[in-house]
Amino acid sequence: MLRAEGDDRLALFRRAVEVKAQYVQNKVYFRGLIEFSNICLKNCFYCGIRRDSKNVRRYNLSDEEILGAARFAYENDYGSIVLQSGEVDTPAFVERVDSLLRRIRELSDGALRVTLSLGEQAEETFRRWFESGAHRYLLRIEASNPELYRKLHPHDERHRFERRLEALQTLQRIGYQTGTGVMIGLPLQRMEDLADDLLFMQRFNIDMVGMGPYIEHRDTPLYAFRAKLLPLAERFDLSLKMVAALRILMKDINIAAATALQAIDKLGREKAIQVGANVIMPNITPGEYRDDYALYENKPCTDESPEDCKACLEARIAIANSTVAYGEWGDSLHYGRRTGG
Ligand code: 5AD
Ligand code: SF4
Ligand code: FES
Repeated sequence: MLRAEGDDRLALFRRAVEVKAQYVQNKVYFRGLIEFSNICLKNCFYCGIRRDSKNVRRYNLSDEEILGAARFAYENDYGSIVLQSGEVDTPAFVERVDSLLRRIRELSDGALRVTLSLGEQAEETFRRWFESGAHRYLLRIEASNPELYRKLHPHDERHRFERRLEALQTLQRIGYQTGTGVMIGLPLQRMEDLADDLLFMQRFNIDMVGMGPYIEHRDTPLYAFRAKLLPLAERFDLSLKMVAALRILMKDINIAAATALQAIDKLGREKAIQVGANVIMPNITPGEYRDDYALYENKPCTDESPEDCKACLEARIAIANSTVAYGEWGDSLHYGRRTGG
């Protein structure tokens, strides 16, 4: 499926559209994304905000700014938010997130579903946050082939493949709706690796997936391999095929239209919606910090406000023949079935 061209490629997309309509309908769920800090203790070779990057203005939103963004999502009926930051696991950070979760539950009367995307943490931390109101967690495996993973990360305790895999298993065991994902078109990645990534998600019985094209960033070690990359247009098309193939493979999961798609193609996210994705993450980070959360180059929406992105996405989703499911949590149907709920 990933190598399909011409009629085969169109047949793949057509089948994904059918499966989507039958299993998850033509609704798109919003997750208001709050990128609340770009401080990170990790040093992934591909990422623009890695610890050693000196050209990054580090920021950390205040609690009031984060709660203000959560209130925006609540008042605009988004149903759900995502708290994302670089990976930090200090006691003060753990405590802070815990208190934010409680205050978000309070201000929204429990009407907002909260997803965390805060990297690898101790089991105790995952449990604590679950009890304080986070019920979904995103932790991309990045590359499910351990050998490839090792080429993309430093070789130390903080960047061990096995540790990441264990964290994902722990999240699932605790009862989180568990999300993962990979980057598509990485240097040294083969087509077989991507096929295996999809089978990894299936074997893992994952509830949600966010995956998008790898986009080089000039201030990162991986930039040295840019000559080996597929052209951007091919990375983009491969990403769409990954979404379509995954929709066919795992019919009832939630699949996000990755923001990175839009760094390549202005209509990237709506194209992903058209071939199987059913979740979009409108950025609701207060404007002045958006520029500084640059994991990759050409990240969209850095000059826009939460209101701009809302209006923009509504129009885009209408073009993709879908509607925004306001006021709904949009829990992964797969999670419901998997847990017998
Ligand atoms: N290109 C695309 N995606 C990236 N990420 C990090 N760096 C890049 C890049 N250069 C992704 C990782 C991470 C997510 C938050 O962003 O998959 O999990
Ligand atoms: Fe930190 Fe995530 Fe970037 Fe890795 S990908 S350096 S964990 S922000
Ligand atoms: Fe942010 Fe279009 S989605 S400006």
